[in-house]
This record gives sequence, C-alpha cells and structure tokens, in this order.
Amino acid sequence: MLDRKAFDSISYSIAIIGSCLDGAFRGCAVNSLQQLTSSMPAKFAVTLNKYNVTEAAVEQTGAFCATVAAADCPEAIIKLFGYKSGRVTDKFAEYDTKTDEAGCPYITEGMAVRMSFRVTQQVDLGSHVMFIAEVTEAEVLLPGAVLTVEMFKNAGKVIPANAPVYRTLDEHYGYRCTICGYVHKSDTLPDDFRCPVCKQPASKFEKL
Ligand SMILES: Cc1cc2nc3c(=O)[nH]c(=O)nc-3n(C[C@H](O)[C@H](O)[C@H](O)COP(=O)(O)O)c2cc1C
Repeated sequence: MLDRKAFDSISYSIAIIGSCLDGAFRGCAVNSLQQLTSSMPAKFAVTLNKYNVTEAAVEQTGAFCATVAAADCPEAIIKLFGYKSGRVTDKFAEYDTKTDEAGCPYITEGMAVRMSFRVTQQVDLGSHVMFIAEVTEAEVLLPGAVLTVEMFKNAGKVIPANAPVYRTLDEHYGYRCTICGYVHKSDTLPDDFRCPVCKQPASKFEKL
C-alpha cells in the first residue's frame, strides 16, 4: 500500500527564496526550506524546481536568502511569488525590497523571519535540485506564528505543480472501481484488493 495522504502529516512553513543573477532579482515561494543540522554553521536545505528561474539564480550564484511568511501574510504576496514566474514579471519591483550582504533580495512585508545562505552542496533530484547551504545571517522580523502549508490549504488555496507538496491536492490519482465508482487513493492496488463498497475484485478497477 502506498497512500500519499500519509505524506500530509508532515508540516511545512511557507518561505520566499530570493537570489540575484546578473543584477536581476529572482524569487519564489517554497515549502521545502528545512533545517538539517544544528551545530554552527547550521545547515539548511531547499528544493527548487529546475523550471523556476529562481533555481537558475541559486545554482549559478550559490547564494540565496529566505524569508518565512508570517501567519497573516497578505495572500497577494504568496500569489505573486508562488504562482507567477520571474520570466514574465519583476516580483520584487512590487514591494519594498532590501538586500542581504551577498546582494540577495528580500521583502519584509508579511514576513516573520529572514535568513541568508551560502550553498555548499547540490543534489540533482530529477525535476528539482536540492541545495544544501550554510546559514550566514539570521534575524527575527516579526515574532509570532508563521504561515504553514496546512493553513494555506485550509484557506482553499491550490498548491502549484512545482511545489514538492503538490500531490496533496492532486485528486487525479488512485484506482476507481468501475462498478460503483469508489476511489482507492493509492499509487498501488494489490492483486487481492476488493472494493470495500461493492466487493468487486482488483480487476474491476481502473487507474486514474
Ligand atoms: C505554497 C507554495 C509552495 C511552493 N513550494 C515550492 C518549492 O518548495 N519548490 C519549488 O521549486 N517551487 C515551489 N512552489 C512553486 C513556485 O513558487 C512557483 O513555481 C514560482 O512561480 C516560481 O517562480 P520563478 O520561475 O520566478 O522562480 C511553491 C508555491 C507555493 C504557492
């Protein structure tokens, strides 16, 4: 059995990554910022889709900053950084923007915390690259609760496909019983599976 709903028990904060390549500010929303080690300099990781222009900036410069969104972060900020590409708009032009010591851009509006990083390792994950990085700067901007993926989804927002947690809102997976319509939400269907509603065998199911 492989039920991706099990993945949903992991909690993620929503952050905005900022980097600067050839004078152009790049940035995108992420759920994948995480702390890996505690001894200083502490190591963190972020996973960026190769299609995102922010990924190219981090890969080529080896530097990025991250601001973690406050619980009451305006929706417009997440929409801008999480659904629009830097290919078509200069996201930072719309907000008061500061830069860290390495020249990476960040906004403070709606943000609880700001950190800066120097990349030490890259792991190619196929669709995404994981950047492992040492923290170089850190400050609390606004003490209090931060915005999580769960809060974001509970507010009815759809997670875009480039986000690692995209699957959580993906209704189009699993196996449907062709007899009664019951959907088994799993990536696998055991041969001896029986529909819990109409008791039909696995052979009566179709993959979604
Ligand atoms: C809540 C949320 C979480 C996201 N998490 C990630 C992530 O961890 N990695 C990633 O590559 N994209 C993630 N995205 C998608 C990017 O923010 C989005 O594709 C963005 O438009 C990329 O912009 P860019 O092309 O300017 O870099 C997330 C989006 C949202 C709304």
